[in-house]
Amino acid sequence: MIPMLRLGPLVALLIGLLAGPTSAQSPAQDRADALGIGINVSWLEQYWLGTPDLSTAPLWAAEFARIAEFGFQHVRLPIVFDVYADTEPPYTIDPAIWAVVDDVVATTRDLGLMLVLDNHHGRLEDTNFEEELPRHVAILAQLAERYADTDPDRVLLELYNEPHDLSNERWHTFLRAAIDTMRQAAPTHTLVYGGINYNGVEGLELLDPTLDDNVVYALHIYDPLIFTHQGAGWVQPEAATTGIPFPYDAATMPPLAAEAVGTDAEFLYAAYPEQGTPAYVRGRVERAVAWAQTHAVPVWLGEFGTLKFFADNESRVIYTQTLVDAARDTGMSYAYWEWNEGFGVFDGPPTLPMNVDDANERLLSALGVTVVSEEGATPPVAAGLQVYPNPSAGRLVLEGERLERGGVFDVLGRQVATFNARGAARFEVTLPSTPGVYVLRVATADGTTTQRVVRQ
Ligand code: BGC
Repeated sequence: MIPMLRLGPLVALLIGLLAGPTSAQSPAQDRADALGIGINVSWLEQYWLGTPDLSTAPLWAAEFARIAEFGFQHVRLPIVFDVYADTEPPYTIDPAIWAVVDDVVATTRDLGLMLVLDNHHGRLEDTNFEEELPRHVAILAQLAERYADTDPDRVLLELYNEPHDLSNERWHTFLRAAIDTMRQAAPTHTLVYGGINYNGVEGLELLDPTLDDNVVYALHIYDPLIFTHQGAGWVQPEAATTGIPFPYDAATMPPLAAEAVGTDAEFLYAAYPEQGTPAYVRGRVERAVAWAQTHAVPVWLGEFGTLKFFADNESRVIYTQTLVDAARDTGMSYAYWEWNEGFGVFDGPPTLPMNVDDANERLLSALGVTVVSEEGATPPVAAGLQVYPNPSAGRLVLEGERLERGGVFDVLGRQVATFNARGAARFEVTLPSTPGVYVLRVATADGTTTQRVVRQ
């Protein structure tokens, strides 16, 4: 692919004709198109908790089922491998995190969701680049090896979230090393990465688009930051002013917060009448698309969203709709940040499972998906798995190929039973004595699946 570009258009055309019919677009573009509407699941990225809570893993199967039911087509799963990798060579990643990610890979596969596995929150910065480079490359080598056998049309591998405090030159040094290593294990998987300065548009424009010909370029848009991040504790004092409307409205614009006076936040505040507009936000997308078109490469809007605590819902919906419209008009797939945490599409706290009554219908509708109620929800069943009788008077029979471990969860997402069928073809599960609706989760040869069961 890359040599073709250097041969000039005529020679390339001739080679193309001689080679017979070819796909009109690259695999990366095909996959970028197939991603469609997506959602970020923040759970395995919560490094500020020390290590993310892996104990909730069984609850996520039902949650992914809901994500699919709402109509999302892909999930971006950010994972802080950094906290799970040894600090000494060969920088082995803890098997505990692999087991959880393996499950997500299987669950999303059964649900027909595409999956972007994202190496999130590294420590690669100008100040520690030489020390951190081998470790991050080793992390990515393990990621590529681990999922080399997955379907490359479904699973994409994202190298590193939002590089910052890192020069463009060092970022490219890292990309070259990472790509070389990952390609040994996963030659046909599509790699994903964006540019420096938090994967924004300006960083995208600094990328060398010829490092590899199977890349989807990541773009994150949170502009204007003082609107999307208002109240965010980790973006201070820029986000100190709260109650900012979108679009800008002089009548309802709050005064600059006292903490922000005399700081850089004043510039963002002063720019808001111009930047807090659909035209400005749309312009960010169009600028990225112009870069992509120049280089004939795909761009995917991998993160955008608004923190829900201080922005009013009307503003959030308009902002989201603006970006979704811009993405759609330019043929770009997108993934909203995020499912159930602070930027989430639910009004309630991030409990599992999320309560469908708390779903922010207007926001979800702006994203292009639909809330499916409890009654309408039909989590898929792995091919060949039979569960009966359902409703059940207490005992549930499972039949399938190689039944493995599983669990039963109540409506609040609490695990009320666990079992290990140890590869049997038939297994009986005893449901709790309290009548009601439960979620059964079971791993089989076909992958992990969930099913709603009723205890009479
Ligand atoms: C970060 C999250 C953050 C979000 C919005 C993500 O890349 O990992 O922690 O909430 O951006 O700032």
